[in-house]
Amino acid sequence: MNFKTFVIGLAVAFGVPWVFALALPYAKMTSLEPVEFDEIQDERTGVYESKRVGRLDGAKHYAANGCASCHTQLIRPTYAGNEIHRKDWAGQPGDPANGVPDTRRETNPFDYDGEEFAFIGQTRIGPDLSNVAIRAEKAAAEMGISTEQWFLRRLYDPNEFFYETVCPPMTFMFKEVDAISAVDALPYEASEEGMAIVPKSQAESLVGYLLSLRKDEEIPANLDPRAKSAN
Ligand code: HEC
Repeated sequence: MNFKTFVIGLAVAFGVPWVFALALPYAKMTSLEPVEFDEIQDERTGVYESKRVGRLDGAKHYAANGCASCHTQLIRPTYAGNEIHRKDWAGQPGDPANGVPDTRRETNPFDYDGEEFAFIGQTRIGPDLSNVAIRAEKAAAEMGISTEQWFLRRLYDPNEFFYETVCPPMTFMFKEVDAISAVDALPYEASEEGMAIVPKSQAESLVGYLLSLRKDEEIPANLDPRAKSAN
């Protein structure tokens, strides 16, 4: 093999994956065209705008504490592994016969709208968090506490929820204050009597971000390959 063939071979071997794995997805995601609802399939019209409710400023704590190193935020395209059926993972099956819509779906680029970084995640050591707020809401209701409290307690003491979990406790995001002035105190014992454990502002904004992790709004059929294939 001469040098020229070698260089061309090298360029093809690295260039082709680069185009398909990086350049094309990047170009597709940076210039997102608005998507319209389809009058027939969606029974409504207008342009789709994603509606995230929550504190996106909490994303910086999600980044700084490496949550994305163990947690993904990506419901795979079905061709890469079917995740739609997993309970409360991709959305909820609803009850279409009684008018409760099926919200299960794959991730689309609009799901990261408003975020500085798309936390697709590095590994999936812990569960995918795309819809963690839906699961949290149910778990909190079972415990008779608010969803915020559930998240705060999970951050402070993950062990209470999953014995010997590797999910790290974020105790430094909490402080001890006089029990009399404590708002949102956690039900754990403080180091001294008369004191209570309360969240610092970083815990509150991280929880605000976690509460925004739910994908159950109506999206255009054009954005949902499952809906498309059903029609
Ligand atoms: C070393 C890996 C690791 C890191 C880093 C990590 N987690 Fe976890 N996480 C896990 C594992 C494993 C589980 C599943 C077991 C459990 O429930 O604790 C989990 C579970 C969770 C759950 C419960 C999910 C559910 O479906 O019930 C939440 C919420 C969560 N993690 C939030 C976070 C947040 C927020 C951060 C960053 C501050 C974080 N995790 C960092 C490994 C990790």
